[in-house]
Amino acid sequence: MGLREWMKPRFQDLAMRQMNHMRSETIEEAEGEVLEVGFGTGLNLSYYGPAVKTLVGLDPMDVTEVESVQARIRGVSFPIERKALRADGGLPFDAGRFDTIVTTWTLCSIPEVDKALKEMRRVLKPGGHYVFIEHGRADANSTARWQDRVNPLWNRMCDGCNINRKIDRLVEEGGFELESLNRFRAKGPGIVAQMYRGVAIRNG
Ligand SMILES: C[S@@+](CC[C@H](N)C(=O)[O-])C[C@H]1O[C@@H](n2cnc3c(N)ncnc32)[C@H](O)[C@@H]1O
Repeated sequence: MGLREWMKPRFQDLAMRQMNHMRSETIEEAEGEVLEVGFGTGLNLSYYGPAVKTLVGLDPMDVTEVESVQARIRGVSFPIERKALRADGGLPFDAGRFDTIVTTWTLCSIPEVDKALKEMRRVLKPGGHYVFIEHGRADANSTARWQDRVNPLWNRMCDGCNINRKIDRLVEEGGFELESLNRFRAKGPGIVAQMYRGVAIRNG
């Protein structure tokens, strides 16, 4: 394992822990057979409730040697399977397998996000829910323009993260119907603090 592969999950864990206070409202919605896309370092695990039966955590990042992540995995009461795969490369699951799909601050980082969302819809049961909290494009034109200017540099510095994606539109173009959407600004610089918390359904 190279230095970069060693550092990435450890730095990401430190950075993403700052988001912990925003996780529960999204994660508590999950039930049944759950697919979490962009599992990262397992920071959502302690927020899942008793309605969760099993969880598949999908993420290309290698966390097998990160003890804090392995401890989080050991600490939950439901079975977990980790798959080191990209969500935009075709998902190795039957259609309609999952009751819930979860993403938290992940759609920003998936290169072919439209492909990933279509696959996520395919593996979700008809009537199943896709629950998410993501950051993305500002509604205010002045902030959105700054996001467009900064994004190329940000993307290179922050491991492929995009700050200017219009998350609600992507979710709807992926074939989901939005049941709820809460747009709010978190703490921090406006260009990275534009939050989209939502619940979407697969109809049909
Ligand atoms: C900002 S982190 C968020 C991690 C975690 N969801 C959290 O809330 O802490 C984005 C995650 O997306 C993952 N990711 C990047 N490209 C991906 C892809 N093509 N498919 C699935 N996950 C991907 C990264 O490895 C990283 O763990």
